[in-house]
Amino acid sequence: MADDVETASSSPEKRGRWRAADTRRDGGGEGQSAVRAAAPSTAEPVLGRALRATRGRSPSPARGGGAGRKRPSKARDNLVYAAVWLTCAAPLAWLAFRAFTGDLGVNPIETLIRQLGVWGLRLLLVGLAITPAAVILRKPRLARFRRTIGLFAFAYVSLHLLSYIGVDLYFDFGQLVKDILKRPFITLGMAAFVLLIPLAITSTNGWVIRMGRAAWSRLHWLIYLIVPLGVAHYYLLVKADHRPPLVYGAILAVLLGWRLWRATRSSP
Ligand code: HEM
Repeated sequence: MADDVETASSSPEKRGRWRAADTRRDGGGEGQSAVRAAAPSTAEPVLGRALRATRGRSPSPARGGGAGRKRPSKARDNLVYAAVWLTCAAPLAWLAFRAFTGDLGVNPIETLIRQLGVWGLRLLLVGLAITPAAVILRKPRLARFRRTIGLFAFAYVSLHLLSYIGVDLYFDFGQLVKDILKRPFITLGMAAFVLLIPLAITSTNGWVIRMGRAAWSRLHWLIYLIVPLGVAHYYLLVKADHRPPLVYGAILAVLLGWRLWRATRSSP
């Protein structure tokens, strides 16, 4: 995601030192360290800079920022990763269970579409919340869950779209095109979905290396457009009570505001 964006760093030794410290810190989680080492970029990640700025010091081993830090065991790491994965999959499993037991209410199709949409949006927001959480809680390793959460968000939104096209429109693509052109909330939802596709495709380490970290990060800035589009989509489709989409909008504003505040604070 865009939080991985890198800027020109100072000296080559500094950059090398950062990479070494970072490799130790994330323990190779989801192969990110390997990517950082192999990627053509030469700068340090913003998350790392932000963390150092928060601490007001560099990640020197003597201060517990590098080799001195205890690395969590592989087993614990796998356990945490499994917990994240299961948490992301749980709403889908619960929805499937309710669908099979006929517990989706009087309008099961609407419930299905809406639940998939709302979980897609929630996971997109959780993905955006990872970096602030990592910085504020001083847990840089949280960043390794961004990809998993982002891919789950994409899966929910894809199923949301699929259930709309399949169950609601009976695969009438002509009607879909009419809806995209005539219903603004569908236009915005579709725009968000289309923009999510390249992010999902390029989410692997291979793509980071192929594109170069700077170009990859620029592409992943799209997330800052996608999530507002998702919130606007929600706001426009609601007919009576606008409070729920406004709550999501407020959460989004806080998450984007935090990034803006960090960016203005760290710029000279
Ligand atoms: C990133 C993309 C998207 C997000 C985050 C998203 C999110 C949402 C949310 C939060 C809701 C309302 C859930 C509720 O009322 O509790 C919703 C409803 C809906 N969305 Fe999406 N959506 C996206 C893309 C799409 C696309 C591409 C389509 C179709 C082309 C679509 C069609 C619908 C429909 C038909 C509804 C239900 C409207 C109703 O019941 O009146 N959405 N979506």
